[in-house]
Amino acid sequence: MMGDSSIRYGFVSRFFHWLMALGFAWMLLTACARFIDKDAAFTKAVFQFHGQVGFTILWMGVLRILWALSQSKNRPEKNMLTTLGHMAMYALMVIVPIFAVLRMMGGGRAFTYWNTIPVLSASEEKTQWMVDLGNNFHGLLGWILFALIIGHILMTIKHRMAGGAEDVLPRMLGK
Ligand code: HEM
Ligand code: HEM
Repeated sequence: MMGDSSIRYGFVSRFFHWLMALGFAWMLLTACARFIDKDAAFTKAVFQFHGQVGFTILWMGVLRILWALSQSKNRPEKNMLTTLGHMAMYALMVIVPIFAVLRMMGGGRAFTYWNTIPVLSASEEKTQWMVDLGNNFHGLLGWILFALIIGHILMTIKHRMAGGAEDVLPRMLGK
């Protein structure tokens, strides 16, 4: 029930998948708002939680990858391309927020998680390569991750329409 099997994903995998899918919907909304107009009142209202939700995706992503590794032998079978697509999404779901955190560290900026847990304290010291890494790659890789996710959803729809054994959605719905 908790673990995966050759016919479906178990509760833990499904919990990570769908809860984090909500998180990614929020990240897409906030990134698009910023891309369209970074000074709009709506963007300011929603973007303040971009980093908070993004940091949640980071630590949950680490747990999800460890869980996926522990289940790799008993997951439903898939082809090479699908496996590569999933691996790319796993990698980017931690790399993208890590680059943002590195940029904050490099810029000497403080970060308090949900206004309660101090993660980074402010510092006078600046580390330019960390800031550059974040500036050059955080947004770019974030958009690439969103493109992969959209491709992933489209493939799920395509397989669903083909029906029968091709339909992989029930595996992730626990049926
Ligand atoms: C999986 C997690 C994340 C995703 C997918 C993501 C995605 C993105 C994307 C696509 C942009 C570009 C928006 C634009 O073009 O205007 C962006 C910008 C930004 N993100 Fe994130 N982000 C994530 C996590 C984080 C975290 C954890 C932080 C900070 C703690 C953060 C801070 C920022 C900031 C300050 C910007 C504006 C500057 C820039 O464009 O790089 N993000 N994010
Ligand atoms: C409406 C949205 C989504 C649908 C319908 C969907 C559907 C699915 C399905 C059917 C599978 C099983 C595929 C198989 O075993 O062949 C799967 C697995 C997977 N999906 Fe999604 N997905 C969605 C959103 C997302 C998002 C936002 C991400 C974020 C990166 C994501 C990442 C993954 C990954 C990494 C796997 C591999 C198994 C796991 O660890 O969960 N999916 N998805």
